[in-house]
Amino acid sequence: MNRHLLSMRDLSAEDVVRILDTAESFREVGTRVIKKVPALRGRTVVNLFYENSTRTRISFELAAKRLSADVINFSTTGSSVAKGESLKDTALTLQAMGADAIVIRHASSGAPHRLTTWVRGHVLNAGDGTHEHPTQALLDLYTLRERLGRLEGLRVAIVGDVLHSRVARSLSFGLVTMGSEVTLVGPPTLIPPEALAWGVQIDHDLDAVLPKLDVCYLLRVQTERQRLEYVPSIREYARRYGLTSARVAMLPDEAIVMHPGPMNRGVEIDSDVADLPRSVMEAQVTNGIAVRMALLYLLLGAGGEEG
Ligand code: NCD
Repeated sequence: MNRHLLSMRDLSAEDVVRILDTAESFREVGTRVIKKVPALRGRTVVNLFYENSTRTRISFELAAKRLSADVINFSTTGSSVAKGESLKDTALTLQAMGADAIVIRHASSGAPHRLTTWVRGHVLNAGDGTHEHPTQALLDLYTLRERLGRLEGLRVAIVGDVLHSRVARSLSFGLVTMGSEVTLVGPPTLIPPEALAWGVQIDHDLDAVLPKLDVCYLLRVQTERQRLEYVPSIREYARRYGLTSARVAMLPDEAIVMHPGPMNRGVEIDSDVADLPRSVMEAQVTNGIAVRMALLYLLLGAGGEEG
């Protein structure tokens, strides 16, 4: 594995298997009364979040704490931060304080990569702009392997605003690496034309795709990013691409439903559908901690350090 985790494109199939297997061994720690192992005692992990987040920040914090690392949470809310320069200054400060790893979420694509040029510690991308969100992809791959027993040959549809979704990009790259068959589904305005080069298929008719799936992966309609101009209206989007009970009935019996959260119930997914046993969002969240533990451990703990 590389020194940093920036993109799913940097991981080979062997890397992914190693991460998922390591996560499996950490999964058990989360079921103990005392949910802690000493693997990263004395190491410092900084969570540097320039964008709002609930589950990813808490998940990284818990992961680092369960490995006994010291955790610093540095949060700043978006726009008042002048990007380039002040990110650099912050990075140099953290570096001077001895951060061994920096987990960064930033509204600018490429910010984690910039960070690697300024600091000596390991950098983990927790979501950068519309670029990538590799730890989300890895927790999704973990959940898929756990639920369906394999990744190779799985038929997965990723449905919604692929154009602006770092989740869709990272997950597509990861699934293709692992030999799954990916179809991106959504209105033509929300599917980037260059996506064919990722090794995926493109379709605009969700109803035609559903009966052929093992996994229906829904993306959040990102109302806060003023991207409504890409669809006629939210209602129209929900009518064509929302996963309703009627649409779930078109899925094969064993197929599962996934969503990275936070969900808009009633838009991309009906509330009843979100609560079905085949909807595995809770497992995704729980597995996220084990996967992030594995990543911190592999980067910082298990021979991830240079001499
Ligand atoms: C995603 C994100 O922030 O990229 N959420 C997450 O990390 N679980 C998806 C989203 O915001 O729609």
